[in-house]
Amino acid sequence: MALTGLENNNLQLLIFGGKGGVGKTSCAVATALELSENFKTLLISTDPAHSVSDCIEQQIGFKVVKVEDTANLSAIEVVADEALSKFKTEHHSELKKLLVTSTNFDNEDIDEMLTLSIPGIDEIMSFKTIIDFIEEGQYDKYVVDTAPTGHVLRLISSPKLLDAWIKVASKMRWKYRYMITSFSGSYQVDEVDTFLLSLKKTVKRIENILRDNTKCEFIPVCIPEAMAISETGRLLADLGISGIIPRQIIVNNVMVSDGCDFCKSRKAGQLKYIQQISETFSILNKVEVPVFPEEIKGLGSLNQLRRSLFGLKVERLIS
Ligand SMILES: Nc1ncnc2c1ncn2[C@@H]1O[C@H](COP(=O)(O)OP(=O)(O)O)[C@@H](O)[C@H]1O
Ligand SMILES: [Mg+2]
Repeated sequence: MALTGLENNNLQLLIFGGKGGVGKTSCAVATALELSENFKTLLISTDPAHSVSDCIEQQIGFKVVKVEDTANLSAIEVVADEALSKFKTEHHSELKKLLVTSTNFDNEDIDEMLTLSIPGIDEIMSFKTIIDFIEEGQYDKYVVDTAPTGHVLRLISSPKLLDAWIKVASKMRWKYRYMITSFSGSYQVDEVDTFLLSLKKTVKRIENILRDNTKCEFIPVCIPEAMAISETGRLLADLGISGIIPRQIIVNNVMVSDGCDFCKSRKAGQLKYIQQISETFSILNKVEVPVFPEEIKGLGSLNQLRRSLFGLKVERLIS
């Protein structure tokens, strides 16, 4: 079977996830290459390891660059720390005013507090960056390569975390609002209220797109090995809790050759796991990808992987 339905015009956001080393980056890049034939496509890496640069053999970094030798593919590697610094710089006055008006902290405490890291903020900033791109609407398709399972689950639940933060900040504001209204009889909405409202809208936008399976698709990547199957099971269960139900799964590194004793033995060893994947994830469309004789690096091998993912004949495999 091949990956299906990705050309659907409504579908904007594609997220690849799974255990470390199973082929998420390779499959995300190969899929982005395929889509870029017909759609303006942006490949976004949220993995701090940033292996997209290595995979396409072109330095990317935290700015959108055109992928060389492609018609319509651009890429960016999100650096969460930098995204957070940018956010703090852009909204410094609102954040400071929120603390000045709602706490008894002095200036020095507030400045110190603003430099502190907030747990989960990395994923929030990564997701906000993705959503900002989607809102700008310069591309038709956004393909996201993620770090291993734990990170992608935090990424998916980041809107909830941001929502909880906004709730606390809004509560603090209400007290301030109440005080001002009691003293002066009226209250003028200020930039902090506007800022909190815009953050709330960001949360809503992220949730709307994540839970809409016509706009967003999550593609798990697995390999025929016991640990990868267990981890995929947990990933799918956790995604389900967030209302995200994948349609298809990539089963990577499948041994196809019988050419030597080693290949025969690997192939036989994988059989029971391929069977287990079929049974455990029976509702998912299975896309089997062969193990290639060399690593997936550069457009040549990426195109082979792409052909395999999209059901075209692969030209180079061990015979
Ligand atoms: N089908 C395949 N055949 C051969 N090598 C593969 C295949 N898929 C992935 N690889 C190689 O396996 C390694 C891990 O793949 P990668 O896409 O970086 O995984 P992840 O992003 O899940 O950590 C890379 O060196 C990649 O080139
Ligand atoms: Mg990767």
